[in-house]
Amino acid sequence: MRGRYAGRSEEEIEEMVAVLAGVRDRVLGAADVQPGEMVLDVGAGTGLLTFGARKLVGETGQVVAVDISVDALYQLLGAAHAAGTAGITLQLGAAELLPLPDASVDVVLTRSVLIYVREKAEAAREFFRVLRAGGRVSLFEPVNRRNPSLSTVIDLAELAPLVDERHARRLDAADPMLDFDAADLERYFVEAGFTDARATVVETVQETVTEMLLTTPPAPGKKPLFDAWREEHGVQSAQRLAELVRAHGPRVDLTVTQVYLSARKP
Ligand SMILES: C[S@@+](CC[C@H](N)C(=O)[O-])C[C@H]1O[C@@H](n2cnc3c(N)ncnc32)[C@H](O)[C@@H]1O
Repeated sequence: MRGRYAGRSEEEIEEMVAVLAGVRDRVLGAADVQPGEMVLDVGAGTGLLTFGARKLVGETGQVVAVDISVDALYQLLGAAHAAGTAGITLQLGAAELLPLPDASVDVVLTRSVLIYVREKAEAAREFFRVLRAGGRVSLFEPVNRRNPSLSTVIDLAELAPLVDERHARRLDAADPMLDFDAADLERYFVEAGFTDARATVVETVQETVTEMLLTTPPAPGKKPLFDAWREEHGVQSAQRLAELVRAHGPRVDLTVTQVYLSARKP
């Protein structure tokens, strides 16, 4: 959690929490989680969906929180102890190889996890396998490949062509963060056997602190733009890029695209 909110003001944190709560409620709402059900949260992280689902399943239901990271599960265990662990089971596992038997859950939920998964079609097949007949899947993912090049929102002068070329190169690379659009995701679920697959694309304008574009890693394990640019084009060019980005002002409006997808196992 510290990473997610690092460097943000209290007001920004409040806003982010409210946005996340909105996403959580929409994912849970589309899954139509009922009391007594068995829910699987894939890539549970700090438990945004896990805790929300637990409220809905009540005392007679169960939520299984699966994550590929021991650290994430350890953090979740701490949060679960604080909130009361009844009804929550933690399991180490991957979206592409779930540690659950066939037809064992009523609902599969996931948020911002498939962007890390190279084999998205395999994950869709695993979701299908662990669901009971009539079970539902509901998820949310950012569609990063729709994000425009930085040059479309900030005047990058003579560096604009290089920035655009880097943007295009990243879209071509085999990167699970960027290698899918909403229609691809929907197709993976239909091909896995789901019916009523519905992908809803949402575009949101996010006011972003301009400096963060330079210094914040765009995703865990990725280099911040300033560092990546310095490696590719040298320190002088990186300083020029920083100057142009900062000249835009302290904040910039970025349009991001996200997808909500829900489907049912016949
Ligand atoms: C951006 S966080 C989202 C966490 C949580 N779903 C939420 O809504 O706050 C992504 C999570 O997915 C987990 N993850 C990444 N790859 C995974 C995989 N292949 N299978 C399961 N979990 C994965 C990470 O460890 C991390 O906890």
